Amino acid sequence: MTGPVRFEVAGGIALATIANPPVNALSAALRAALAEAVTRAAGDPAIHALVIAAEGRTWIAGADISEFGKPPASPTLAELIALLDGCPKPVVAAIHAACLGGGLEVAMACTARLAGPAAKLGLPEVKLGLLPGSGGTQRAPRLMGAAAALRLMAQGDPLDAKAAVAVGLADAVEPGDLVAAARAHAAKLAAGPLPKPVSQRDGGLGARDDFEKEASALSKRAATEPQVAAMIACVRAAFEKPFADAVADERKAFLDLLQDPRSKALRHVFFAEREAAKIANIPEGTKPRKVERAAVLGAGTMGAGIAMCFANAGIPVRVIETDEAAMTRGLDRIRATYEASVKRGSLAPERRDARMALIEGAVGLEAAKDADLIVEAVFEEMGLKKQVFATLDKVAKPGAIIASNTSYLDIDDMAAATNRPGDVLGMHFFSPANVMRLLEVVRAKDTAPDALATAAEIGRRLGKVPVVVGVCFGFVGNRMLARRTQQVERLLLEGALPQQVDKALTDFGFRMGPCAMGDLAGLDIGWRIRKATGKRAPVADALVEAGRLGQKTGKGYYLYPEGARAGVPDPDVAALIEKVAAQEGVTRRAIGQEEILDRLLLPMVNEGARILEEGVAARPGDIDVVWLHGYNWPAWRGGPMHWADARGLKDVFARLTELARQTGDESLAPAPLLATLVAEDRGFASLR
Ligand code: 3HC
Ligand code: NAI
Repeated sequence: MTGPVRFEVAGGIALATIANPPVNALSAALRAALAEAVTRAAGDPAIHALVIAAEGRTWIAGADISEFGKPPASPTLAELIALLDGCPKPVVAAIHAACLGGGLEVAMACTARLAGPAAKLGLPEVKLGLLPGSGGTQRAPRLMGAAAALRLMAQGDPLDAKAAVAVGLADAVEPGDLVAAARAHAAKLAAGPLPKPVSQRDGGLGARDDFEKEASALSKRAATEPQVAAMIACVRAAFEKPFADAVADERKAFLDLLQDPRSKALRHVFFAEREAAKIANIPEGTKPRKVERAAVLGAGTMGAGIAMCFANAGIPVRVIETDEAAMTRGLDRIRATYEASVKRGSLAPERRDARMALIEGAVGLEAAKDADLIVEAVFEEMGLKKQVFATLDKVAKPGAIIASNTSYLDIDDMAAATNRPGDVLGMHFFSPANVMRLLEVVRAKDTAPDALATAAEIGRRLGKVPVVVGVCFGFVGNRMLARRTQQVERLLLEGALPQQVDKALTDFGFRMGPCAMGDLAGLDIGWRIRKATGKRAPVADALVEAGRLGQKTGKGYYLYPEGARAGVPDPDVAALIEKVAAQEGVTRRAIGQEEILDRLLLPMVNEGARILEEGVAARPGDIDVVWLHGYNWPAWRGGPMHWADARGLKDVFARLTELARQTGDESLAPAPLLATLVAEDRGFASLR
């Protein structure tokens, strides 16, 4: 037998070994090869039992997600599983590693499951907006009880080998030669009467009350996540219907979810995240440089958070300031943040101590001389940054990567202040740096490929999601955000109130709207930037100038009564906006939620199109990943570019054209790339 399964027989026991890299996903070819192995074992009188093992980093990672939405090829997973279920001879799954989704459904249709110590068994379909669609919602409850099975499906996180055995999902952990143990077990099973398949087992579901309790605890999620509602219904059917009927219901629910735009978005995110990890346009085989020690310049808001990222990943880091007092303040800030985690119970005191021990304070740039990676996070002033880069050029060791955390400034200018532009790039962390997962890795004109690969790799070591972007004002995330912020200001002037603007986005799925977010961050930050660059935002400026800086002053776009975390609408703000609008000569009108949403999101999509045209982002999915991890774009909406595709670019184009006409705002006119895609009847996804 050729293809993704090796088949061999010894001592009357057949061994089918799966080798379908990278993750042994159940592609059509693998399903066919496994079906052939089962049929052969069943039909050959010289074979008494079958063992299914696998090679590589997973056992079976599940259905092949890239086949979803294509016409089903026979044998389907359901057909393969029916073959296993009806096999007249024992089949033993020898699970050495991750066994997920459809992979676990295959394993559960086997007669027995032996797990290696590194095995992980789980049903992660929920994360893709799906539910187990090949009998998982019926077999898992029969093996581990309905309440525990529902919990496993709704959480989506796998159990390790020991835990899987404890709940009954696997039969035993085999620390030694797993395949040999599985063969021996198969021979033993073959010597006795064939055990009933899981599908025909009576009982095992546990108490109905326990299941109903679990289901009701999930009711809030079920209201917004259709896959969770469907799981509850399917598992409940295990109590109420014959196996075959319940499996038919499950299949229907699975196919319905597959068509749901929310699941499509989550599947897009799965692939976009993995694609973003691949750096475009660098020579194949580029190796990252070694990073053993880091230095961070500036122990302010960002520097302190970035230093914690290194320490949390076990990398020694020196935090460098201009004087002792600033350095001590920075270290105190770091200690206080760790202390708060210890108090909350999320960090053990010993780990706090271990992390603090990796952070060393220092004064003067000379202290960066041992670092393999230097992250500059000093004030956002080009003069200062250039001076810092020129000094680093003299003190940094050869081959050290010199990165800037600038939000907006030109990395090429900083690189030009050194004699080693190949080592210079941007590493743009998001605030709070120790929490937010996005890392924009900014590729400057002369950045060396291995420097880029190093920054991306270190980003992953820090637990971040690195996305490579090009140089421009604000890079990908802040450049698009600026378009939204501009519209917030205009919407307020033209007739909306902060609570209406925010509601449009929270109803869309964001956790917070832009006005509440502005209050949280402090409205003075933007005000200071506008003053320095000669820009104005009449409403936001008036708020700051009236002493309304946000939460820190108890009032901003909203009012924060003593002790309140959430703001309440403030009539004074409505009056202030009216006054400013009158001064600006704007006649206010009622603006509906739909228009608010379009005006907040479509200009961002338009800017995203320009970013793609300019090559600042390599792929539309990269932009989506930036928004998902840097700005909490709801995952089930897939990111701005996927959202635009799902809405239809023709509609996006028409609406932008209309908004540009209606508002006289030229920046809203559709970008040339949008026009091209619409003319060719394509979506952003076609640019991948
Ligand atoms: N289908 C298709 N491709 C898959 C895949 C799958 N189920 N799982 C992983 N891949 C691909 C990835 O896209 C990636 O491809 P690339 O190299 O071309 O980018 C490659 O395999 C490696 O993936 P990772 O980078 O994620 O590898 P890791 O080693 O970090 O992680 C993993 C391995 C834990 C298995 C992780 O890939 C994962 O979580 N995969 C998805 C598991 C899953 O959701 N399974 C359920 C699928 S739905 C299902 O089974 C429905 C059924 O009930 C009917
Ligand atoms: P901050 O004002 O909190 O901290 C800057 C620190 O740099 C100060 O402690 C200062 O003493 C120190 N510093 C100044 N000159 C120095 C020098 N020559 N050597 C060593 N230290 C020096 O500023 P913040 O907010 O941390 O910003 C730092 C950088 O990060 C800026 O470029 C900013 O644009 C960027 N950034 C800020 C984000 C934010 O939300 N605050 C988000 C992402 C990036």
